[in-house]
Amino acid sequence: MLNVRSNDIIPSEPNTYIDVQDAAELSGFAVRHLRKLIKSDQIKYFKTEKGLMICWADVQRLAGQQKPFWVTLPENALFTSTPPASLLLYTDSNEVDVHHPLEAFYDKVVHGNCIDWMRRMPSQCIQSVVTSPPYWGVRKYPDSEKIEWADGSSINLGEEPSVDGYVAHTLEVFRHLKRVLRDDGTIWWNLGDTYQTRAYLRESSTERLRAFEGDRNDTWSKYPNKRYSSGHSYLKDKDLTLVPFLVAIGAEHLGFYVRSIIVWNKENTIPEPTIDRPTTAHEYILLLTKSRFYKYYEDQETEASITGEVIKRNNGKRTFEMGTKRKLRTVWQFPTSSRHGDHTAAFPLELPLRCLRLSTKPGDLVFDPFAGSGTTLAAAKILTCRYFGCDIVEEFVSESERRLLAPSKPLNGKQKNTDNRGARDTTRSEVRQETLLDRKPGYKTRKKPTPSEQQ
Ligand SMILES: C[S@@+](CC[C@H](N)C(=O)[O-])C[C@H]1O[C@@H](n2cnc3c(N)ncnc32)[C@H](O)[C@@H]1O
Repeated sequence: MLNVRSNDIIPSEPNTYIDVQDAAELSGFAVRHLRKLIKSDQIKYFKTEKGLMICWADVQRLAGQQKPFWVTLPENALFTSTPPASLLLYTDSNEVDVHHPLEAFYDKVVHGNCIDWMRRMPSQCIQSVVTSPPYWGVRKYPDSEKIEWADGSSINLGEEPSVDGYVAHTLEVFRHLKRVLRDDGTIWWNLGDTYQTRAYLRESSTERLRAFEGDRNDTWSKYPNKRYSSGHSYLKDKDLTLVPFLVAIGAEHLGFYVRSIIVWNKENTIPEPTIDRPTTAHEYILLLTKSRFYKYYEDQETEASITGEVIKRNNGKRTFEMGTKRKLRTVWQFPTSSRHGDHTAAFPLELPLRCLRLSTKPGDLVFDPFAGSGTTLAAAKILTCRYFGCDIVEEFVSESERRLLAPSKPLNGKQKNTDNRGARDTTRSEVRQETLLDRKPGYKTRKKPTPSEQQ
């Protein structure tokens, strides 16, 4: 028997039972639905002091029913008589390390894999997560230790040969986030879509730009970091993988609420060589929550009302009135980031500032599991929140640390004021103005597209 505490009543069946939370997340069904199946005798279970335990064989059967839409349960787990211990989060399994005290995570940026760090965090300590993970099949980050995933693979996030593997690994990160996020917390998950077309995984924007302009001395056969277009069960060369939506569907199966899919309209996006479709000029921000009700301060961010008609609330009654500001909409426009130090995929400061104004109060703990150059952490500091971030590349951690000395200034810009809690180096409106001024000049147009870049 696995994961059964000594004082639990062990049923007579020669089978393994797992915690109902694990069962729900791994099968992709809601706990409520599992209870219904129990009532109608469709799955085996038993009760402990702490809750329900569900028969592993039934979890496997249910997960099998969800395929191909549900990919959290790794293929190999469907055929084992006991679940791999690495899949179980909510039981007494040793997988959850001894948690450190909450204060250990205040105002720090650390080196390492975010899953390892989350294992050390107490449950329900994070108010808001604002992050941008590596996108699938886009970039090769500088050398770092490979991550060991619950499905047994050992690879960096974003470098999986298939988009399905990437979604499964993202959902593994989500399962850990679900434990550390407060019930009234929010996750803002920035992600771009990727084409199934074969592609080079470039190490830097400079390398990408050079290749884009035809200045390259590498050939497809010799280039070490690449992904292929063939081999997927349904995606064809040139298909959009719809990866942000696969991740969103997966999050719903894990029990998260997908409350909004925001389009980040990137006005100064890099030109693309393709001639048979419009240039992609947006990414997505998934707003995920753990509960139906959560902290959201809608009046902290508004936008200009074009028609002049806005909804006003008076003593619970809603009326249409004339006004200059309306509720924020789902298309957001920021310029892409100005360079912060050496990080090539930083997002603009205004993006996490907006998310955090909407979802935190001063003193709340903000987490960025993929901190990069520390943009989210800088935004949290400006808004006098507590912050914790990690990155698997040590060099980026040092960059974040330097940046956090004066969070509203770009690392390679002039750093005038130092920042400390309660004495910010800029006001919210100053920051907004400054980040809008941070726009980069446009890129040069390229000479001639190469076939592998015709996504
Ligand atoms: C898109 S970048 C984040 C950029 C960040 N938003 C910024 O503004 O600078 C993704 C980051 O995730 C880091 N990373 C990749 N896998 C990781 C993991 N398992 N744990 C922690 N960090 C990881 C990469 O090194 C990279 O810096």
